[in-house]
Amino acid sequence: MLRHSPTLAQPNPRFRLKLLEDGRAALNLGCGTRMHRSWNNLDFSLHILLSRHPAISNILRKLGVLSQERYEKLLRVAPDAIYWNLAKGIPFADDTLDIVYHSHMLEHFDRELAPEILKECFRVLKRNGIIRVVLPDLQILINKYNASVTLLQQNKSVAALEHHYQAIYDLFEQMVRREMAGTQQQRKVVRRLENLVRGDASQTGEIHRWMYDSYSLEELLTQVGFKDIRVQTPFTSRIAGWTSFNLDTDADGTIDKPDSLYMEGVK
Ligand SMILES: C[S@@+](CC[C@H](N)C(=O)[O-])C[C@H]1O[C@@H](n2cnc3c(N)ncnc32)[C@H](O)[C@@H]1O
Repeated sequence: MLRHSPTLAQPNPRFRLKLLEDGRAALNLGCGTRMHRSWNNLDFSLHILLSRHPAISNILRKLGVLSQERYEKLLRVAPDAIYWNLAKGIPFADDTLDIVYHSHMLEHFDRELAPEILKECFRVLKRNGIIRVVLPDLQILINKYNASVTLLQQNKSVAALEHHYQAIYDLFEQMVRREMAGTQQQRKVVRRLENLVRGDASQTGEIHRWMYDSYSLEELLTQVGFKDIRVQTPFTSRIAGWTSFNLDTDADGTIDKPDSLYMEGVK
């Protein structure tokens, strides 16, 4: 993740804005491999680049350079997903989108950059357009930590200790990890090569650089100009047909990232 301020992006004619069947334009920023193919999906991960070259990806898998898990993730990536670093802003024109969504992305930016990213979201949204921000909920994580301490105070069992360690891990591991989760699963030589070529977790947008709860995120969205800010659940939204996109939930109703905060605002 770059640390400098995003320069305001000019609409990039390379990226044609896709529309949903009902005419809405929807954008998923920092999509990773979780995306709906009718949306405009954007990320700067290697997955996006590799997904355009299935033959190369297959060879890399056969050579063991790509783990099976990563290869399977690649197959989920829409071939027209946009490879773009958000440090350069959002490559769409003002007032062009009905929906901007990002999940577990904002916390990967330095605290002082988060308002700049949200300003970009505000800029590209149409009037009455909706932003939906999903991120790890600091309050839930701290409540879990506190509950684990209470449990330990009642009974210092192995299970209670494991629970406690997990609560600490969930709070801090992603702030200090050196390698991307996917890189860790690769063979040693591939790991070395990948770290050399791509840089460590701090350069690939994998590190948590700040954390938010409903109070601080609401304040941030308000400062940027969003109105009518509301906490949602994975299943609720003011975005019509939300659950049909299977972004926060799977088709069978499984929540993709429990312990998240779901918040929406209107431009
Ligand atoms: C934790 S993943 C979340 C992926 C997906 N949204 C999800 O919920 O599963 C964070 C994503 O943000 C992307 N990201 C981080 N910094 C970025 C940047 N500067 N530009 C574009 N994407 C970025 C990463 O590449 C990664 O795919």
